[in-house]
Amino acid sequence: MPILNILQYPDSRLRLKAAPVANIDDNIRNLVADMLQTMWEANGIGLAATQVDVQQRIIVMDLLGDRSNPRVFINAEVDILDETPRAFDEGCLSIPEVVETVERPSKVIISALNGKGEWFKEEAEGLLAVCIQHEIDHLDGKLFVDYLSSVKRQRIRKHLKKNRT
Ligand code: NI
Repeated sequence: MPILNILQYPDSRLRLKAAPVANIDDNIRNLVADMLQTMWEANGIGLAATQVDVQQRIIVMDLLGDRSNPRVFINAEVDILDETPRAFDEGCLSIPEVVETVERPSKVIISALNGKGEWFKEEAEGLLAVCIQHEIDHLDGKLFVDYLSSVKRQRIRKHLKKNRT
């Protein structure tokens, strides 16, 4: 299974909006498998298709990071069940080595298709709630650094630039 290239901030392609998946066919199934492999290789716990330059609403996740429970969310949407902001230290495979505190609604209900194309609904809090909101943001062209002050964002861009040269 090929390892996909993960776009790095501030690549403008991370700002593209993904379209809903119309049909879960072999292409989508292969992409999901490649995305999981790519996420694991990079030691991540979540990856959105936008990050591998595919503008389709696909998210993979493995919150334990031990490959025991890979999750697939296709065309996922969330409704907020509890708006109370919960602060969490977030990172992102597209923004390596940067961890910043972000506040998001603490409890949501997820509706999505799984890897087999079956609809499900699931209440989420804690890490799952954070991760699904972070990944859906990716599909909408949004990054967790967008929640930070512009001064902080500037500092992160400088830091990443320095580390890459
Ligand atoms: Ni991310």
